[in-house]
Amino acid sequence: MPRLGTHACGGGPQACPVSCVLLTFLLLATCSIHETEQKGYCENIITKKHLDKLQELIDSQMLTSCHLSFEFIDETQLNDSICFVKAAFPRLTNLLEKMKFKKNSENFNKTKDVQNMYKKIDENEGPCIDDQDDHERELSQACFKELSMPPEKMLQLVKDFFGSVMVLLDANVDFKRDCSATYQKCSDSLKKEMPPPDQRRKEAQPKQSLRELMTYVLVTILAILLAVGGLLFYKHRSQTLERRLQRRGNDLEEQEARPLHGVEEHLELRLQGEL
Ligand SMILES: *[C@@H]1O[C@H](CO)[C@@H](O)[C@H](O)[C@H]1NC(C)=O
Ligand SMILES: *[C@@H]1O[C@H](CO)[C@@H](O)[C@H](O)[C@H]1NC(C)=O
Repeated sequence: MPRLGTHACGGGPQACPVSCVLLTFLLLATCSIHETEQKGYCENIITKKHLDKLQELIDSQMLTSCHLSFEFIDETQLNDSICFVKAAFPRLTNLLEKMKFKKNSENFNKTKDVQNMYKKIDENEGPCIDDQDDHERELSQACFKELSMPPEKMLQLVKDFFGSVMVLLDANVDFKRDCSATYQKCSDSLKKEMPPPDQRRKEAQPKQSLRELMTYVLVTILAILLAVGGLLFYKHRSQTLERRLQRRGNDLEEQEARPLHGVEEHLELRLQGEL
C-alpha cells in the first residue's frame, strides 16, 4: 500500500501536492484499519520474526552426530495438516524443552521468544487451536513415534511446524473438525506393521521350537552325563567290591587250603603206611 502511494506521487514528498499527501495518509490509514480489523489475536501470534529466529538457531548449530530423541508425530503418516497440528500442538513441549542454550546468550533469548510465543497461542479467550476431544486424543496416540535426529533437524521440524500453524491460523481454518478418521489410520497402519496375532504366533513358533530343541539337547546331555557318572560310579564300586571279594576269596582259599593240605598229607601218609 505505501508503495502505491509514493508511486502515485511520482517523486519524493516534496514533489507531492497537499492533496496527494492526504490521499497517501488516508490510504495508509484505511489499509492499517482494515488489517487490524481482519487479523485478530490468533492470526498475529506467530510472525515471520519467530520463523527467522528459528532459522538463525538452525544455522548456528554445530554439526554433530549426536541425536536428540523425543516423541512426535511422523507427519508423513497424516496427510491432513489440520489434524496434524491439532494432535501435535500440545506435544510440541517435548521439542521446545530440548532447546537449551547458555543463559542470556543470543540463542537463549531467541529460544525464549519462541517458547513465549508458543505459550501465548493458548492464552486467547477463544482457543486458536481447539483441543482434541478424548476420543481423538486416544486415537492419535498411535500417530506418535519416538523420533531421533540431530539438533538442527529437530529445530527445522519446529520451524516447519510453526510455519504450517501460521498458514492455518492466517487462513482461519476450523480446528473443531473431527479428526477421528484420520487418526484411526495411524492405528490401522500400526496393525499392518505388526502382523495379526495368529500370524505372530506362527512367527513365534520357530523361536519356541528352538527353545524346545535346546531344552531337549540339555536334557539329553544331562541324561548322558548322569548315565556316564552312574556307570563310572558303578564301575568303581564293582571294582572295589571285586577287590574286596578277591581279598576275601584269597583268605578263604588260604583257610580252605590249609585243612585240605592237611587231608592230602594225611591221605599221603595213610597211602604210604598201607604200601
Ligand atoms: C488423505 O489421503 C486419503 C487417501 O489415503 C484421501 O482420501 C484424503 O482425501 C486425503 N486427505 C487430504 C486432506 O489430503
Ligand atoms: C538476552 O536477553 C537479556 C534480557 O532480556 C539481555 O540482558 C541480554 O543482553 C540478551 N542477550 C543477548 C546476547 O542479546
